[in-house]
Amino acid sequence: MTSSSSGPLRIGILGAARIARSFVEAVRPSAKVVVAAVASRDVERATAFARELGIGRVHASYDALFADPDIDAVYVPLPNNLHAEWSIRAAAAGKHVLCEKPLAANAAEARAMFAAAEKNGVYLVEAYPYRAQPQTLKVRELVAAGAIGRVQLIQASFGFPLTDAANIRMDPTLAGGALMDAGSYPVSFVRTIAGTAPSRVSALSRWGSTGVDVTTMATLEYPDGLLAQISCSFTTVRHRHAFIAGDAGSIATTYFNDTGSAFPPLVHVRRGTGWDAAHEVIETEALAGFLAEAESFHDLVRFGWDQWTGATPAESIDIAMTLDAIAASSRDGVPVEVAR
Ligand SMILES: NC(=O)c1ccc[n+]([C@@H]2O[C@H](COP(=O)([O-])OP(=O)(O)OC[C@H]3O[C@@H](n4cnc5c(N)ncnc54)[C@H](OP(=O)(O)O)[C@@H]3O)[C@@H](O)[C@H]2O)c1
Repeated sequence: MTSSSSGPLRIGILGAARIARSFVEAVRPSAKVVVAAVASRDVERATAFARELGIGRVHASYDALFADPDIDAVYVPLPNNLHAEWSIRAAAAGKHVLCEKPLAANAAEARAMFAAAEKNGVYLVEAYPYRAQPQTLKVRELVAAGAIGRVQLIQASFGFPLTDAANIRMDPTLAGGALMDAGSYPVSFVRTIAGTAPSRVSALSRWGSTGVDVTTMATLEYPDGLLAQISCSFTTVRHRHAFIAGDAGSIATTYFNDTGSAFPPLVHVRRGTGWDAAHEVIETEALAGFLAEAESFHDLVRFGWDQWTGATPAESIDIAMTLDAIAASSRDGVPVEVAR
C-alpha cells in the first residue's frame, strides 16, 4: 500500500517517455507532488532520464518500481495498448494511478482498470491536463449556469502534423492512430459538456500507410437531441478548439494542455440569438496543465473525489465507449449504436 498519508504525493514514472519529461519539468515547483522515481525497460535509459531531470531513484523494471514502498502513486505514459495491463498491475501493488489518455485501448479494458482500482482501494484516473485548466472550469461553469441556454450543438477539433512513421502513434499494434491519440481530446471535451455518452455515432476516416487512421471525423447523436461533431488529424496544421451553441448563446474556446502568452486562456461568450448578441471575452488564469493536473491528483488521493477536476471513472468509460463506436463506424462505414 502507499507509504504515507501526508506530505507530498510521491510519484513513480513507468517509462522514460517523451511526455514524462514535460510532466517532470511542470510538476517540479509543486509542494504537493514529487517525482521520486523512474523505471524503464532499459536501466541505462532510466538512469540518464533521472540524472537529467533530477529524479532520486531509478528502477530497472516497472515491477521493481511497484515494489518500492516509498512510492505512493504511478504515472503511466506508456503506449496506449499497455495502459490497462500496467495500470492494473500498479493497482494490485497498492499504488494510485494517473494514466495517460486514452485511458485504455477499449471500453472493456477501461472497466477492468476501474474494477482493479476499486478492488485494491486505490484511485485510478485518466490524464487530461486541459481539464484542470481554469479556462475549462469556466466553460463548464458557464454551461451549467445556463449562460448559453440549452446546448444544441458541440464541435471540437484537435490536429497537428505527424509524419514520423516510427512514432508510437503510427503503430496499430500499440493502439495508435489519430482517433486514439488526438481524437480522445475532442471526444473527452464533448463528454465534459454533454454530461453523458452519445447514443449513436457515424464516422469517416482517412488511413495512413502504417494502417492507422490519420484523420477522423465523427457525428455524435444524444438521446435528448443534442448533436456533436469531433475531428482529429495527423495531417493538418496545429489546431485545437471547440464551439458550443445553445438556444440562447454560444461559447468558442481553445482547450490546450498549457496556457500562457502563446496559448491565452480566452473564452468567447455570446449571449443572445442575433448577430448583435453581446460578446464577452473572459480571460482566465494561465497555468501549466500538468502541474494543475498533478496537484488535483494529489487532492484526489488525500481528500477524495470532489477534489478531482479531471475525468471521473464514469466519464472515462463513456469516452472509451465513444472511441470504440467511432472506430467501428469508420471501419464498417455504418452508424454504430454506443454500447452501454
Ligand atoms: N496528456 C497529453 O497531453 C499527452 C501528450 C503526449 C502523449 N500523451 C500520452 O502519453 C503516452 C506516451 O506518449 P509519448 O509520446 O510520450 O510516447 P514515447 O515517447 O514513445 O514513450 C513511451 C514509453 O513507453 C515505454 N514503452 C514500454 N513498452 C513500449 C513499447 N512496446 N514500445 C514503445 N515504448 C514502450 C518506453 O519507455 P522505457 O523503454 O523507458 O520503459 C517509452 O519511452 C501515450 O499514451 C500518449 O497518448 C499524452
